[in-house]
Amino acid sequence: MDPAPLRRALLDWYDAHARTLPWRRAPGSGAAIDPYRVWLSEVMLQQTTTVHAAPYFEAFTRRWPTVADLAAADDADVMSAWAGLGYYARARNLLACARAVTGGHGGVFPDTEDGLRALPGLGPYTAAAVAAIAFGRAANVVDGNVERVVARLFAVETPLPAARPGLRRLAGTLVADDRPGDWAQALMDLGATVCRPRTPDCRRCPISAWCAGFASGAPERFPVKTVKAARPERAGVVWVALDGRGRVGLTRRPDTGLLGGMPGLPTAGWGAGEDAPPGPGPWQAAGAVTHVFTHFGLTLEVRVGPGAGDLDWTDVDAARNALPTVFRKALERGLA
Ligand code: ADE
Repeated sequence: MDPAPLRRALLDWYDAHARTLPWRRAPGSGAAIDPYRVWLSEVMLQQTTTVHAAPYFEAFTRRWPTVADLAAADDADVMSAWAGLGYYARARNLLACARAVTGGHGGVFPDTEDGLRALPGLGPYTAAAVAAIAFGRAANVVDGNVERVVARLFAVETPLPAARPGLRRLAGTLVADDRPGDWAQALMDLGATVCRPRTPDCRRCPISAWCAGFASGAPERFPVKTVKAARPERAGVVWVALDGRGRVGLTRRPDTGLLGGMPGLPTAGWGAGEDAPPGPGPWQAAGAVTHVFTHFGLTLEVRVGPGAGDLDWTDVDAARNALPTVFRKALERGLA
């Protein structure tokens, strides 16, 4: 397939329909774009939607307007500002990367995919995205949206995850030197707004004329997936210790493992470390909260009581801001 007409159709669509997002400049404007903002947004967007990430992006760039500002930040402040975004190892990598750029590269991001890839915590996706969007490099930027669009366009019958290398190769056949950053983001926007996972809206699609999935009559069948094993379920207990003066007793989670280094509430029973209640109570049952992590679902029974011992007593409002989502849910349940 000659990709030129398809590329033109999608880039024209992007010029008219690009989502307005805080880390973007207008499509095709050619205006310089700050690699720091591109990098930060791409790290945030690896784990969450544009809608959820946008306020975090605004808050980070207000507080740390440059990579040097972020590099100089206190680790605890960054971890706390990251709370709610999930995948907390990424926040530590974010700091390591900012410090590498500031310390080893004079505060300037490398402008090639290979140079970016050498930075700590910067994987192939982020390196390609920053190279394309910030530096106009013809990098092959493949995220889940792009995989889906390409799987449909070429009606790829191989199931995921085995299809991944082939999808990447096919995506690469569409990349060209003209507007690589807009191209990458056009595919992402198409995947997010038109070529949606369960309900593709092919009538609005600018490239349906080239789409083998559309021609098949069942584009939603792609990408084909192998049937997944059910997500395992774990259960445990979480204690909301209140001191009666507006403070809640927090712990700090071990540096390694799930939610590593983040503040938490004392818990037991789901393989997370602590076992005993933080004090003799009395503890009152306050229902349960559920949370879905990547690799398991978790139900925690919430117990509320006075607490004692070695807890980090923190104002409830400050705790709300600093706690990862699963613990914030438990706190709200305990306070209800
Ligand atoms: N998802 C990941 N990166 C994105 C971007 N730059 N624009 C829109 N969605 C994205």
